[in-house]
Amino acid sequence: MVERFKPIRFSRAGIRGLKASATIAINDRVREIWDAGRNVYHLAFGESRFPIHPKIAAALGANAHRRSYTSALGIPELRKVIAAHYQRRFELDIAPEQVVVGPGSKSLIFSALMALGEEVIIPQPSWVSYGPQAHILGKPVTFVPTRPETNYELELDVLESQIRESRQNWGNPEVFIVNSPKNPTGTVMRPEKVEALAGFAREHELMVLSDEIYALTVFSAVPHVSMSRFYPEGTVVFGGLSKSLPLGGWRVGTAIIPRDNGGKALTQAMSNIASNIWTCTPAPVQYAALVAYSDDPEIEEYIDICRRMHAIRTRFLYRTMKSLGVPCVEPAGAFYIYPSFERWREQLAARGVHNDNELAFHLIDRYEIATLPGSDFHAAQDFCLRISSSYIDAATDEKADMLLSAFREDPDPERFIRNQHPRLQKVAERFGEFVAELRREAGEPETVPSLAVV
Ligand SMILES: Cc1ncc(COP(=O)(O)O)c(C=O)c1O
Repeated sequence: MVERFKPIRFSRAGIRGLKASATIAINDRVREIWDAGRNVYHLAFGESRFPIHPKIAAALGANAHRRSYTSALGIPELRKVIAAHYQRRFELDIAPEQVVVGPGSKSLIFSALMALGEEVIIPQPSWVSYGPQAHILGKPVTFVPTRPETNYELELDVLESQIRESRQNWGNPEVFIVNSPKNPTGTVMRPEKVEALAGFAREHELMVLSDEIYALTVFSAVPHVSMSRFYPEGTVVFGGLSKSLPLGGWRVGTAIIPRDNGGKALTQAMSNIASNIWTCTPAPVQYAALVAYSDDPEIEEYIDICRRMHAIRTRFLYRTMKSLGVPCVEPAGAFYIYPSFERWREQLAARGVHNDNELAFHLIDRYEIATLPGSDFHAAQDFCLRISSSYIDAATDEKADMLLSAFREDPDPERFIRNQHPRLQKVAERFGEFVAELRREAGEPETVPSLAVV
């Protein structure tokens, strides 16, 4: 029971049942440990930490004088440049009027969810905020489980049966959230699956919110293909500068809205929501974003360098898990892996660890490793952790600068890890200790963590 305060009394709408995510609790614990002068390896943070490209930083400084409100949808020049960017990078034929700019894709996803449909379909696992956003808006959710055996791709028969079941219970799922490359698994949906899902959504008249914020971070042979390519009339594509460039705190998000009259009405609705809540994206940041979205070869090259550095660091973590015999689907983009410790359920229970939340705290307390529990990601399975490579060995600006210079000088993955990533190598050792103990307790043969990268 929450204490009652006068005159602060809480509204039940939206807040009731809204739980603090473990993300915050884990980050608080990490902070406490650091404040006490102790060590913890922070693998819970999903923020690109590489340096800001000097041209983009200079553009922000040069535009500091822009102090007026702008259009809620974004300045026209930026909408035009973003439309051209989508044409160039994703082969989508986009008009500037289809582009909405907002303070982060998170706010835009929220406003689209507010504007559209009655109920929301959310895959399990998926990004932490989809469920809470639906909850705040009072929208029921139909969850659709996915499995590691099928690379966490949605299976059409499972999707269909979940929707049917929801409708049999008076439900009305109309909005369908899809995310690829995917947080928390790092997996990328194959183009044929994107096409199949698009066909399914069209047949069932679902509005797709396609979260493609990690589109430019793909590092496997499977290319990123936008859902909008196959279902332009029923897809809103979300993107922004938070992941492909290290600009999360600048809050630049984008939404690409369908071109037809329905799309125009949706743009109007999102504009109405924006203008009554956040007014606009900060003006200097929008002008600086013009440079980030331009076709400047230096910026394009920098996006690619960031992608390659994330890839090496993330693949190193994946190889570590594989060499230890920890089940983990191979990442293909973003900066996450999503291993499962389910097979040691019994040994973990003997340590008083009964779910992934307890596992995350156990790893911090006993092994100095901070990760996030899968249950924060609406996971259906137990004992999965989301492990992010984005923060480690790049915690300070100086370290991030050093990483970039070292990579430019010598991009060899093996040497990049060996010479520039002392803490990441320690993480591999710590996981090695943890898994070796579990294996011993389970009577399994020993393994050693591989320090291989490719
Ligand atoms: C899948 C996914 N979507 C959206 C976001 C939000 O990004 P932003 O609001 O910075 O654009 C994140 C950030 O972690 C994410 O992982």
